[in-house]
Amino acid sequence: MPDRPWRDRYLVFGAPYIGSEERAEILACIDSTWVGSGPRVERFEQQFRDYLGAPSAVALSSGTAALHLALRELRLAPGDEVITTAMTFCATANAIVHAGLVPVFADCDRATMNLDPAELERRITPRTRAIVPVHFAGLPCDLRAIMAIAERHDLRVVEDCAHAIEATIDGRHCGTFGDFGCFSFYVTKNLTTVEGGMVVGRAREHADRIKIAALHGMSKDAWHRYRDEGFVHYDVVEPGFKYNLTDLAASLGLHQLARLESMWERRRQLWAFYEAELRDLPLLLPPKPPAGVRHALHLFTCLVDDTRTRVSRDDVLGRLHQLRIGCGVHYRPVHLHSYYRTRYGYAPGDLPNAEFVGARTLSLPFSGALTDDDAGDVVRAFRMVLG
Ligand SMILES: Cc1ncc(COP(=O)(O)O)c(C=O)c1O
Repeated sequence: MPDRPWRDRYLVFGAPYIGSEERAEILACIDSTWVGSGPRVERFEQQFRDYLGAPSAVALSSGTAALHLALRELRLAPGDEVITTAMTFCATANAIVHAGLVPVFADCDRATMNLDPAELERRITPRTRAIVPVHFAGLPCDLRAIMAIAERHDLRVVEDCAHAIEATIDGRHCGTFGDFGCFSFYVTKNLTTVEGGMVVGRAREHADRIKIAALHGMSKDAWHRYRDEGFVHYDVVEPGFKYNLTDLAASLGLHQLARLESMWERRRQLWAFYEAELRDLPLLLPPKPPAGVRHALHLFTCLVDDTRTRVSRDDVLGRLHQLRIGCGVHYRPVHLHSYYRTRYGYAPGDLPNAEFVGARTLSLPFSGALTDDDAGDVVRAFRMVLG
């Protein structure tokens, strides 16, 4: 057992760091009397666009909404196929279905857990129209290969950047390579607005259409109708959705964005600590990015190495939970969930690498909110369970 008393507080997986700047901005937003979508959202969009170097950005209520509206904006025909990875959150595939398209899962690489370009190319059929690569855990996909495949086969690309805000390839941000980049500001993400998302794109006109689709299909949003310049009527140009981000949420986002790099630096320290302290345990540690690639360091995801331990992944999760350490599982492969099996006929054995990862994976508590003591407790707990 450890020398100092064991922790009495449960270490919640992915608990965010929210500072005094966010608190003050939220109060200022409330005091401004405008808490719905308005000037703070516009500022957040502009600053996010500047951070990424993207031509356009639209803030939305979730990353799922961003994926849905980006896929819809591709204007594909119902039943067209979109290839994605099974090693992702279900939202990636669900959004493809919501857009009236058919998700086709390609296998991932076992080490990087990212879409394997060779497997992706193998899944292309005459009905394939788009690819949704996911930069898993914050490690950029092999976009050079994926974009070349897209060009060869005339396919659109929507990057799922839910894990990858800070990720770059040769200095260029993930999310700016494809037709669209979709970001999530869910509570566990590197930047959180509690719930929220952003879609970035190459052309302003896409952004304008997405903005309209995100708010009932109305030609003018509430801020532009009610603000002090006088009332303006709107026209409904399509039956849109209710996917807008609020100024209250953007109050968080503005300050989370301002400290994105210092939080990344903090996570880099934690990453190095975990790497050094867990090296000798029966775990396969996260891969290192290749030269010229910046990892967004979103998830510290390991595989339990069953050639070196008889303790199963689920036993590790259970025992860590008893020690008040909350871990995550990223992910049980999407093709094995019952909807995807039943609707599209997927079965165990179809995607061996995603299934290999899915059976062994676990993600450690890892966020800018973690203290040195928290990280030390995580390591001590892992040593008790697997040492
Ligand atoms: C890879 C991935 N894609 C999409 C999403 C969906 O984002 P959101 O929860 O903001 O809808 C998430 C996160 O939750 C995710 O991890």
